[in-house]
Amino acid sequence: MARASLAEQYRATRRLSEALVAPLSDADASLQSMEDASPAKWHLAHTTWFWETFVLREHAPGYHLPHPDWQFLFNSYYEAEGARISRAARGLLSRPTLAEVLDWRAHVDAAIAPLFGDPALADLMALGIAHEQQHIELLLTDIKHALFQNPLGPAMWPDLPSRLPEGPGVGKAAALGWHHHPGGVVGIGHEGAGFAFDNEGPRHRVLLEPFALADRLVTNGEWEQFIADGGYADPRLWLADGWAWVQREQVGAPLYWREDRHFTHQGWQPRDPNAPVTHISHFEADAFATWAGARLPTEFEWEAIAANHDPAGGNQLDGAAPVLPAGSPGLFGDCWQFTRSAYLPYPGFRVAAGAVGEYNGKFMSGQVVLRGASCATVRGHSRATYRNFFYPHQRWQFTGLRLAKDA
Ligand SMILES: [Fe+2]
Repeated sequence: MARASLAEQYRATRRLSEALVAPLSDADASLQSMEDASPAKWHLAHTTWFWETFVLREHAPGYHLPHPDWQFLFNSYYEAEGARISRAARGLLSRPTLAEVLDWRAHVDAAIAPLFGDPALADLMALGIAHEQQHIELLLTDIKHALFQNPLGPAMWPDLPSRLPEGPGVGKAAALGWHHHPGGVVGIGHEGAGFAFDNEGPRHRVLLEPFALADRLVTNGEWEQFIADGGYADPRLWLADGWAWVQREQVGAPLYWREDRHFTHQGWQPRDPNAPVTHISHFEADAFATWAGARLPTEFEWEAIAANHDPAGGNQLDGAAPVLPAGSPGLFGDCWQFTRSAYLPYPGFRVAAGAVGEYNGKFMSGQVVLRGASCATVRGHSRATYRNFFYPHQRWQFTGLRLAKDA
């Protein structure tokens, strides 16, 4: 099938953002449960701000900003675009209303449509689409965290059946197998045609020692064994920062676990022991790997194996519906996978000129790289070279674990 045109990708992405908020009230869509998470309404507005600021304002002569004072509300972190509301205060915006934000989106969509004919704007359009796809994933994980705060455990999609009875993860998880790699000098990073974020390049050489990477993710059932074996109470398994975090936060299970249930977009549901474990921190992933006699892969080992897998395969987001890891073949889908690699610039990396240069490079401090794609990642968004990144204590994303070992 021919790849969809940029204009078609734009429309599909914008429609999906809006379909995800269809089950939400204005109050739901305005909730902010923590500083790391943003209200669903803010995601809808911020992605629109991005299109208006970097495409329409710069490249649509005569475009009139319908709400100039909203710039202050919906700039995320772009210093070059001036002052903005503090991140922790995004949940205090009862106005503009959800309906007003949706009207603004329609206004911007109409103004953008004629610009897809300009090939000079293709790279910027691809960046805007990828940006909104990233916010679709954040919208899903942020609203899950927000609804989780409600003692009644409301479901975002109460009328849809739970996927648990028919999901491919139900049944026995496959025995763990390994992808073996002989080591050697490998090429890492993006080059050539097709969109990629700046942090995926330049392509460069990396020396790998022989290693093996697990052929599936760690499951809920395996994580239950780790808990039963006292994994959260044994400091020998933990990085020092991780042990301090476990004690300070009184952590004893993945986020959203309660007894044999877990919180999902469909409220509290039974937990499938054969499905991949998710909502774990880097600290937890590292401790589990140590307990299992294995380790986390480096991001380079992961990419060397992933180069032979379909990045659009597995359990990824195809539409506005509940999402849950189920157990995919291949390297992509279900959960983002922790690596032991710090998020750092590749040799020769240069921050792009202009405000868009603030997109990735300035976050290369203190974070770890995750690879793959999750059940909340828009299918087609990720690549073998894609670098996701979070702080090691964070676990409200669909984060999981694939073991590695030295050969
Ligand atoms: Fe953003």
